[in-house]
Formats: sequence, structure tokens, C-alpha cells
Amino acid sequence: MRVLAIGDIVAEPGREFVYRNLNRIRDQYKIDFCIANGENAADSNGITYEIAKTLYERGVDVITMGNHTFANKGAERALEELPYIIRPLNLPPEMEGVGYLVTDLGNVKVGVINLLGRVNMNPADCPFRAAEKALSKMDADVIFVDIHAEATSERIAMGHFLDGKVSGVFGTHTHVQTADERILPGGTGFIADLGMTGVEDSVLGVKKDIILSFFQNPGKRYRFEKAEGEVFFHGCIFEVDITTGKTTGVERLRFSKI
Ligand SMILES: [Fe+2]
Ligand SMILES: [Fe+2]
Repeated sequence: MRVLAIGDIVAEPGREFVYRNLNRIRDQYKIDFCIANGENAADSNGITYEIAKTLYERGVDVITMGNHTFANKGAERALEELPYIIRPLNLPPEMEGVGYLVTDLGNVKVGVINLLGRVNMNPADCPFRAAEKALSKMDADVIFVDIHAEATSERIAMGHFLDGKVSGVFGTHTHVQTADERILPGGTGFIADLGMTGVEDSVLGVKKDIILSFFQNPGKRYRFEKAEGEVFFHGCIFEVDITTGKTTGVERLRFSKI
């Protein structure tokens, strides 16, 4: 099967691109299952119930989140009511939502786990232990893991930790795509960062002038506003053998026209 993972969808330009084009992208690349990181899908970060629902209706099968999960008020309702959105597993269990799920497609059960890194991030439980515990409970043929982390080292370490135990591990959060897509020795597809689906002529999707002032005037307060301009779609396709759960091919995607 072919699994598409989409990097952080950023604000209205990013989500409009996905709403408009995902059906065509799925057709063109013969995608069977699609996972997207939606932690910045709302204009002020986070996600809303309506956005999560629309992403699903337009072809995203599972939405993962990150450190901005609760940035928008609508996230709690989405996490409690919609069965296709998850938040990092290693957040406190009392918080809304779940950290992994399994989707039964009939011929194959696809699991997705969402983890948060701990290097230069807010405190969270150990993502390695959390992943191990989830794997012991999950009944799935194919499993993908979104490790939402600041440090590439932590994401690569997670890839090796889960090599041979899951079909694929991909990083999100830094919004810059890495060119290290590969198959690890145990058959796990890997990319350290999918990148972002948003406006490239920006700083991580935010208006570049605002971020320049922010860095040049330490301590001053700024309202980060979404950038406008050409959107680039960033993601990765994993070709998986459903009888073994191993990945046999990885293809990185970056384009603005489809
Ligand atoms: Fe993030
Ligand atoms: Fe992000």
C-alpha cells in the first residue's frame, strides 16, 4: 500500500491548498492512506473542529498534532469528538484526546502514533517509553509514527529505536524538509522532517518582516501573522508491503503545482 504523510499544514494558505488539491494528489500518486500534521492548521496555530472535519472530508485519513495542539480553543472538541485526530501520546493522559489509533481498511489495519520530542520542547513524558507501551497494545499490520520534535538527533534516534517495529517514522515541527528519506536496516521508512505545507516566502509560514523584527528587537512583543504567497506542498510517500509491514520505497514530495 502507499501511505502519504503531509508536513505541518500551516494556516489558511496551507489548508486551502490541501482542501483543493488532495484528491488529485491522492489519485496521481495512487495513495491508499493519508496522514497529515495539523498542529498549525488554524490561523493562530492549533486546529479547530471545523478544520479537522474538512481535512478529513478532503482526504486526510488521520490528523496528528504537536506542541501547538491546544493553541486554539476548538482543539478540545475536535480531539474528544472526532475519531481521526490524535495528539502527542506522551502528554499527560488526563488531557483531551488519544495518542494513537488504528484504522481498519478491511484488508489491512493501519495504526498511527503521535509523539512529542523533549529536546528544547516543553516537558513531556519519555516518547521512547510511550511508543513502546503503545506498540504492545496496538493491533495493526502497518504502523506510522509522527515524532514531533525540535532536534533532528532525537527524531533520528526514534527512527532507529522503532526500526523493524513499525512501517515508518517521520519527523514534523521544524517546517523545513530534510533530504534524508531512506529505509532503515530493519525495514522502517524514515525521514527526519516532512517539511511544511504552507507559504515558502516566509519564516516557517509567518510573515517574514514580523519575524525579522522579532529577532532584531529582543524582548518586544509581536503578533505573528500568516504569510501570503505561493504554497508548497511538502510530504513523503511510503510504499509498504502489507504482508510484512515493512517499507519498500520512500519518495519525498515538494511541489507548488499539481
Ligand atoms: Fe510544532
Ligand atoms: Fe508546526
